[in-house]
Amino acid sequence: MSTEKTLILVKPDGVRRGLVGEVISRIEAKGYAIDAVRMLQADAALLEKHYAEHVGKPFYEPLVEFMMSGPIVAIIASGNRVIEGFRSLAGATDPTVAAPGTIRGDLARDQGTKVMQNLVHGSDSPESAAREIKIFFPQ
Ligand code: RTP
Ligand code: MG
Repeated sequence: MSTEKTLILVKPDGVRRGLVGEVISRIEAKGYAIDAVRMLQADAALLEKHYAEHVGKPFYEPLVEFMMSGPIVAIIASGNRVIEGFRSLAGATDPTVAAPGTIRGDLARDQGTKVMQNLVHGSDSPESAAREIKIFFPQ
């Protein structure tokens, strides 16, 4: 059985705040491997693919605007149950109630913006991980 992989993003708020190293440290400290890292500026077409499930929702336009507001860092991490494990490290979507000890719980809060700025993204299933890795690491 091949080792599980997940696609992690440090969103523009995380890059702006200098938290790329902190996020990578937490992934490594948990024991997962970092297989690839890439900094990029997302455009609307790439985000429409990545967030296909959210197209048309009320928060979609603010989400795209936020995700294009600066560079992001895409990471492939691997290890047994890394998909579930990184979602656990990230914490709940809403940073106000994300548990202390998680990335969002420790490092993010509600900034009063139209869309929640919550530092990181992590794939939520093996199917999403395979799809998202192809979007961010097409080679
Ligand atoms: P992600 O995909 O970024 O890892 O986050 P998630 O699974 O925890 O959350 P998801 O439901 O997939 O939503 C994707 C991102 O959209 C923004 N969002 N805002 N009601 C809202 O204001 C709202 N809902 C979602 C967040 O940035 C969320 O991470
Ligand atoms: Mg999601």
